[in-house]
Amino acid sequence: MPGAVNKKRYNMFRFPLQKFQETPTPFYFYDLKLLDKTLDEIAKQIKGFPYKVHYAVKANGNKTILEEIAKKGFGVDLVSGGEIQAALEAGFNPGTMVYSGVGKTDPEINLGLDNDIFSFNVESVPEVEVINELAGKKGKIANISIRVNPDIDAHTHRYITTGTAEDKFGINIEMLSTAVNVALSLPNIHLRGLHFHVGSQITDMKPFGMLCESVNGLLDYFDRHDIHFEMINVGGGLGIDYLKPDVNSVPDFEHFFDTFKRRLKLRKGQELHFELGRSIVAQCGSLIARVVFVKENRNKKFVILDAGMTDLIRPALYEAYHVIQNISSSDTASDVYDVVGPICESSDVFARDEKLPVSKRGDLFAIRSAGAYGETMASRYNMRQLPKSYFQR
Ligand code: LLP
Repeated sequence: MPGAVNKKRYNMFRFPLQKFQETPTPFYFYDLKLLDKTLDEIAKQIKGFPYKVHYAVKANGNKTILEEIAKKGFGVDLVSGGEIQAALEAGFNPGTMVYSGVGKTDPEINLGLDNDIFSFNVESVPEVEVINELAGKKGKIANISIRVNPDIDAHTHRYITTGTAEDKFGINIEMLSTAVNVALSLPNIHLRGLHFHVGSQITDMKPFGMLCESVNGLLDYFDRHDIHFEMINVGGGLGIDYLKPDVNSVPDFEHFFDTFKRRLKLRKGQELHFELGRSIVAQCGSLIARVVFVKENRNKKFVILDAGMTDLIRPALYEAYHVIQNISSSDTASDVYDVVGPICESSDVFARDEKLPVSKRGDLFAIRSAGAYGETMASRYNMRQLPKSYFQR
């Protein structure tokens, strides 16, 4: 069901429409040139600072994407044995791997130990004890960081806040000292430092500034107790511009890193680590779908796509907005539609009351900024196929 080429839209984002006219939909399309540009910008901003960036694989574990990031020398942030495996296969060095998660299983911990990963980001005292025991059995010393819950509310969607005291993540500040002492007392544990993460899709730098203050206070406290850390890991969370993917295709890394450069008082020889996911991959990916039907009900017109919440769940799960474009329509007239998927769930809606060029069966649509938490969160609900992926350099 090919549609006509709209040159103007084609130029706006680098999607080779002609090439994909006959390609079965839905699929993810990734612009690797934009990914490279984004990675180069990060490298530029941290040059000359003792900063290390670990890419959060949970945002996108696609093999080609991982290989591209590994080639540029970045580290990885992992949350499961499956992710450790994928990172190894994509060529990441285990010495750059940090591994978080409140429920690491013994086989997962053993996989990390066997590969001598850089750090387990430990989320509880029972976890430190188990890692110590498993490392002991292998005659190894496990490198860990203790994840602190800094109790900072980043005011993002309630499903993606992680840094408040009621969240399941990390250890509360009042219990931190005990956890640090337990870690220091165990023979098969090497405590590298402290780990934090305040939340995701944070576009206001204030929560990051508050995090710096919190880290400064803790470093002072531990200095007084003669406890010193090699590194601090401040996690990820930098947001992206979902409303203007073409204007702000590369996030404002300068402002982000500058917040830490100005406000976090690293000790001599100490490294600062980051775990960025969304800000690295979100803008380089789009979900491409075809219009199956255009349907009219009493007060509404619906564009029904062949992509649904199984391909991109963010709108259904977090009420997230992604820019939607009809990339093949050459119609200059517009109309207002609800853009929905085919899944048997009433939350399977990409956007309501969206102004779009008059759309018809067979038109190609792009759902933008879908490179992060898109393909990785896809499911086979309704026994659908997982979406394929294509790349452009
Ligand atoms: N580090 C830790 C410990 C995390 O929990 C996360 C994300 C990251 C790093 C990476 O955060 P980023 O830089 O990507 O914001 N599925 C949700 C987002 C969940 C984020 C979970 N943790 C979404 O689609 O918005």
